[in-house]
Amino acid sequence: MKAADIQYRRATEEDLGHISKLLTSVRGDRTGLSARQFLVACASGLIIGCGRIKQWPAGEKELASLAVAVGWRKRGVGSTLVSKLSSEEKSRPLYLLCSPAMTKFYAPHGFHVVGEDELPLPLRGEQLRIIRELAVPIEAVVAMALI
Ligand SMILES: CC(C)(COP(=O)(O)OP(=O)(O)OC[C@H]1O[C@@H](n2cnc3c(N)ncnc32)[C@H](O)[C@@H]1OP(=O)(O)O)[C@@H](O)C(=O)NCCC(=O)NCCS
Repeated sequence: MKAADIQYRRATEEDLGHISKLLTSVRGDRTGLSARQFLVACASGLIIGCGRIKQWPAGEKELASLAVAVGWRKRGVGSTLVSKLSSEEKSRPLYLLCSPAMTKFYAPHGFHVVGEDELPLPLRGEQLRIIRELAVPIEAVVAMALI
């Protein structure tokens, strides 16, 4: 199947079960799932990728829950989701949390690594939550921002 056969659209309530399954398979962020936050990639009617913009109570925005099904990786689906989500979301800074290895994936989209002192409190809390949940060392979760 070619890249042109992959469609990108906003998620609906009916998609939430599939999104949740995909996120579970990659240990992705499933907190407070809401269909209107998500953009999905579909092939032959099936969800093969997803990503969302989370809004924190004080208005901070986070690009989160990015996942592509194993058989569909390395075809640009993840990059297309990041590009669409970050261009549709106009508020800046737009934050994300990822592993140090993933910073190379996000950098071409304009994201740069930010230190703890530049991170708003809710994002710092989320960084610590992920560190606890995944039981990884503190340096395993890096914050990035698109200014
Ligand atoms: C990360 C992910 C969404 C990328 O989706 P994709 O459709 O394969 O992405 P693209 O085809 O646009 O780009 C592929 C690039 O992703 C990057 N990448 C993927 N996984 C990576 C990892 N674990 N570490 C570093 N880079 C990675 C690589 O740069 C890769 O390029 P390569 O072919 O030169 O290795 C997908 O691998 C995935 O779902 N992984 C598991 C969940 C995850 O890690 N989500 C991100 C949380 S921050």
